[in-house]
Amino acid sequence: MASPLFATKPLALLLEEMKSENRLRRVLGPVTLTSLGVGAIIGTGIFVLTGVAAHDKAGPALIASFMVSGLACVFAALCYAEFASMVPVAGSAYTYAYATMGELFAWIIGWDLVLEYTVCSSTVAHGWSAHFRDLLASFDLNIPAALANAPFDYDPVSGQFIATGAIVDVPAIAITAIITVILVIGIRESAGFNALMVAVKLAIVLFVIAVGACYVDPANWRPFAPYGYTGISIFGHTLLGQTAAGGEPLGALAGAAIIFFAYIGFDSVSTHAEEARRPQRDVPIGIIASLLICTVLYIAVSAVLTGMVRHDQIDINAPVSNAFAQHGLPWAQRLIDVGAITGITSVLLVMMLSQPRVLLAMARDGLVPTSFFGAVHERFRTPYKATVLTGLCVATMAALLPLRILAELSNIGTLLAFVIVCSAVLIMRRTHPDAERPFRAPLFPWVPILGIITCLVLMFSLPAENWTRLFVWLAIGFAIYFGYSRKRSVLARLRAQQGTAAD
Ligand code: ALA
Repeated sequence: MASPLFATKPLALLLEEMKSENRLRRVLGPVTLTSLGVGAIIGTGIFVLTGVAAHDKAGPALIASFMVSGLACVFAALCYAEFASMVPVAGSAYTYAYATMGELFAWIIGWDLVLEYTVCSSTVAHGWSAHFRDLLASFDLNIPAALANAPFDYDPVSGQFIATGAIVDVPAIAITAIITVILVIGIRESAGFNALMVAVKLAIVLFVIAVGACYVDPANWRPFAPYGYTGISIFGHTLLGQTAAGGEPLGALAGAAIIFFAYIGFDSVSTHAEEARRPQRDVPIGIIASLLICTVLYIAVSAVLTGMVRHDQIDINAPVSNAFAQHGLPWAQRLIDVGAITGITSVLLVMMLSQPRVLLAMARDGLVPTSFFGAVHERFRTPYKATVLTGLCVATMAALLPLRILAELSNIGTLLAFVIVCSAVLIMRRTHPDAERPFRAPLFPWVPILGIITCLVLMFSLPAENWTRLFVWLAIGFAIYFGYSRKRSVLARLRAQQGTAAD
């Protein structure tokens, strides 16, 4: 008999479950889904992390970094879209893994998605806090540094944690609390709020491209790749490219691994499948359209940024707005700061919207306590308990942990999720060749295979300590699975009942 660890959830059962009560409201169309995608994508990555990536890792080849990362995401997005059209239920990659690779893999990916959504939200809340402080400071209003930073940071050169002298990041806690309340009230209101913020940030990004282009000096693009085009290490040993003093890989690929963070979020569209009016058509549209829009914008912004300022002069905290300050345009700097705060708020909204929906799907399968994570609010029809818990975790991590660790952990966790989804598409085509696929990833099997390869390359281009953190995280996940979830899963209970009936 096959091991229960690899028992898959039948596709027919998934589709059957969709017809039951206790469902979320179907209110989202293709434009709203695309807007949710863009809302989740453009934020801390482009407004904050481009600074470190251009300054320390890639130079003007940041443009190539965005292309490589964007390409890896396009492969993954096509795989997500195929799955989302086949299994249009909440839960995203978690549900896809359950249907193809079995319960243990489903658990691994569900647990891994916590890295993507909750840890990523904490990173984003940090970025929000930094821009909020900067904006207030431009009006001579200063929050004490002790109340607006994490109490410690990680020094990659010494490999040690260092005290920052701060106590807690209060603005990060405040924005997380506000978003949590909005999310408990309901998705219709959340989607409207999101659409407004997306419009503002798109306008600001277009402003950066249009106005910034007037200040580009092509001499700043030479040399184009001061650190080379590669930058791959395996567990701390450089395979290709230059290495920084602390042992970290340098080059366009190493830059791509960092700014990959800027693309995280397009996949969150698939967690809203249950709230989509026509999920089989609209979710693939939302995933692919939002990713393509952002890829084009990112490449343009990185070209403008590295053309406006020499890479070694790029500010690492607020690179985009600072580039305009360097050209004597303080009004533009302030405008971009407001746009960044707005953009980052909408990322937080969508990320924190997605996490409870993955937990809801896991609760329905019995892998996490159903009475808590499966509870849908009677009036608001939202998974309110899981939303509040997500808010508490995001606020705690954002208040206490350093940005750098949170960002890299989000990247490696999300890349692992993409590798699993691409693999799951390969498996599903083999095991269920005749299942209905309203959207099919093109150029099969090359798209999923290239998705796996490019995401693995990016994982290996991240600093080595991230692998250790990922393994520790997965080890905790295994302990929970074998200690709790395995016995309580709905599939395990069904099997037990069938066993008893047969006796
Ligand atoms: N892509 C999102 C951001 O850059 C997570 O903030």
